[in-house]
Amino acid sequence: MALKLPIYLDHHATTPVDPRVVDAMAPYWSDDFGNASSAGHVFGWRAEEAVAIARERLASAIGASDPSEIVFTSGTTESDNLALIGLARAQRGRRDHLIASAIEHPAVLDACRFLAGEGFSLTILPVDGDGLVDPAAVEAALTDRTLVVSVMAANSEIGTLQPIEEICRICRERDVLFHTDAAQAVGKIPVDVQRWGVDLLSMCAHKLYGPKGIGALYIRKRRPRIALQPLLHGGGHEGGVRSGTLPVPLIVGFARAVELCLADLDAEAARLTALREALWERLSGALEGVACNGSRARRLPGNLNVSFAGVNAEQLLVALSDVALSTGSACASGSGEPSHVLQALGLSEAVARSSLRFGIGRSNDAEEIEWVAGRLVEAVVALRG
Ligand SMILES: Cc1ncc(COP(=O)(O)O)c(C=O)c1O
Repeated sequence: MALKLPIYLDHHATTPVDPRVVDAMAPYWSDDFGNASSAGHVFGWRAEEAVAIARERLASAIGASDPSEIVFTSGTTESDNLALIGLARAQRGRRDHLIASAIEHPAVLDACRFLAGEGFSLTILPVDGDGLVDPAAVEAALTDRTLVVSVMAANSEIGTLQPIEEICRICRERDVLFHTDAAQAVGKIPVDVQRWGVDLLSMCAHKLYGPKGIGALYIRKRRPRIALQPLLHGGGHEGGVRSGTLPVPLIVGFARAVELCLADLDAEAARLTALREALWERLSGALEGVACNGSRARRLPGNLNVSFAGVNAEQLLVALSDVALSTGSACASGSGEPSHVLQALGLSEAVARSSLRFGIGRSNDAEEIEWVAGRLVEAVVALRG
């Protein structure tokens, strides 16, 4: 069968909504359209019930002990901002030191820098050549003023999976809160907030075949309750932490999308890992001067990040116009700056600019990977020539 072009290999940026998710959302647009806060009639009750079921499913998907630990937001960016800015403002005057890894998403790094502008002190933790945070470095950076440590569960450029459980243990011992941005982890690898010991966890639906515009922040209930100052003030929704009418269809879709990912987690992870390895074998077998960025062992199943020595990745993208890929060298805001993640690994600006990120996902198969690999090899040879 002929390949269907273009081929989408950018599943870290976003994913298509699964048709089963679209079906689950369908009734909540125009039939059961009620406001989940309308307590006086059946439209409101139905919406409220749908939200309650979704909240329960999401809580159980990440191992939370209580559905009320899930607060709905507009996405991971908002969850990260609410977690860090909300916490910092609530704790102002008590603890004023923040720690984040150098390879965090801008939603975390820029929120921390914003707080630094408000007088908080900030430690940026380096990573090793594989992109891993050393738990001992976290321990060394903690002071009795440290409020929170933020380390992402899975990196969006190089797929590195951090030793979250170990870092959490260290934070607990020192009575410091721990936040993780799990946008790339939930639905891809097992996530368990209890086992890991995280206090705050950010996630969203559009990275896991759910709709855009919906996310959640997990806020641990026990040990004592974590106070967050809201970013949005209004009707007091979500326990007063995040005001605004709940987008019921998106919430229902979010929960269904997570449920579908979890039902197939191990098999899909094995399939994506095999596709990733096949792609790497094919590229590294045919080309000199290629390097895999990030840890080979501790990595998201569908992620590959490759530097092609002597080749500008932007030119590769132009040569591969039938393939949706992203360069490791463009930062999330599209500023054209070389990737802060690749530079944190110790890569030079030139090498960072020669890197491509492959985000392999549900729709990709072996035939597509083989075709893309062949096109890439041709393009690299031509550009080097
Ligand atoms: C790790 C990580 N954090 C945060 C975000 C921002 O997420 P959202 O689009 O849900 O605001 C992304 C998306 O690129 C991401 O990969």
